[in-house]
Amino acid sequence: MVTMETAELETDLSLFKYDSLEQLPASYRDLDEAERTDRIETALAELGDDVVILGHNYQRREIVEHADFVGDSYQLSKEAAEADAEYVIFGGVTFMAESADIITDDEQTVILPSMEASCPMAGMAEALQVDAAWAEITDAAPDANIIPITYMNSYADLKAFCASQGGLVCTSSNAHRAFEWAFDRGDKVLFLPDKHLGENTAHRLGMEDAIAEWDPWDPEGKDATEVAESDIILWDGYCQVHERFREEHIEQVRADDPDANVIVHPECRREVVEAADVAGSTATICDTVANAEPGETWAIGTEIHLTRHLQRWHPEVNVLPLCGDACMDCNAMRQIDPNYLTWVLEELVASRERNVIEVAPDEKELAQVALDRMLEI
Ligand code: 13P
Ligand code: SF4
Repeated sequence: MVTMETAELETDLSLFKYDSLEQLPASYRDLDEAERTDRIETALAELGDDVVILGHNYQRREIVEHADFVGDSYQLSKEAAEADAEYVIFGGVTFMAESADIITDDEQTVILPSMEASCPMAGMAEALQVDAAWAEITDAAPDANIIPITYMNSYADLKAFCASQGGLVCTSSNAHRAFEWAFDRGDKVLFLPDKHLGENTAHRLGMEDAIAEWDPWDPEGKDATEVAESDIILWDGYCQVHERFREEHIEQVRADDPDANVIVHPECRREVVEAADVAGSTATICDTVANAEPGETWAIGTEIHLTRHLQRWHPEVNVLPLCGDACMDCNAMRQIDPNYLTWVLEELVASRERNVIEVAPDEKELAQVALDRMLEI
């Protein structure tokens, strides 16, 4: 029986991982785009090779346009690992900037322009909750070798926990390989925090009958013994941006145009992924549209900024948001306001570092093990 005390945990859990949150000075709040672009370009010219800007595919146009590299979480972690610049400015969310800090050398500094860019899904599996669940599940299955895998969308302390228990990190582009890696070494997987990516990966591997869910918010929920009988235990986390997509949206797109193709992110619900023509990471979505024939229609089931980028980048392809006006932007990604980018760059020109992401040394070492395992699979 689950004995975790939800009320007590809630007081210890927080959405924002860093209390060094620095707000944008008033003088930066109302810059118009022309002035801002000019100031960003001037600052970048002064900083030269000292700075590299990495941007996730979900970032706003005004961030993506200034980025040296734009990509999915996996590509960005590889770029961070290979970066030589003294400063890595991360256009993304906190867990991505943390991973960049873990992967880069100690002399390099990672800056997240706004510290409020916290992914709600990463906040759904706090290390404190996972510790409690782990104790129960491992007690319920004392003879099993359970390997924890955390999605990249998690904080450094959870990545460190996974490494400490023989596990690793994965992204949406390599989750299936991470599961295979884990089943080569153990007999069960605890996958955190995205139940949809976990379920979609289990299906990809033909293991859909081996799934159980662990709901950390439901102390009266399933018996740990029952859950621990399954080979794949999914943490009950999700992304609200992707949960919005439904099968009806796909049916509607196909009713409007029987030739339309549908591509969705694997954070979408199982039935949506099953009904789509293709499912894949944001890089797969970008590549698929880039390789489409002129005149083809592609409905995109992911965050709306990426859909808009694809419309701009590939005007020869008919790119549609899968659920029309109901498609969401990611509130966390949106916190990286271009005014913040202007500010952190101009502060660097003045030799001041703002909004630095610094993972605690003890977490860093272990989290690096979990990330390195992923980079090797
Ligand atoms: P990708 O790794 O596919 O870029 O996804 C990151 C993400 O946060 C999706 O919501
Ligand atoms: Fe997190 Fe969803 Fe935003 Fe991705 S889209 S960063 S999972 S909230």
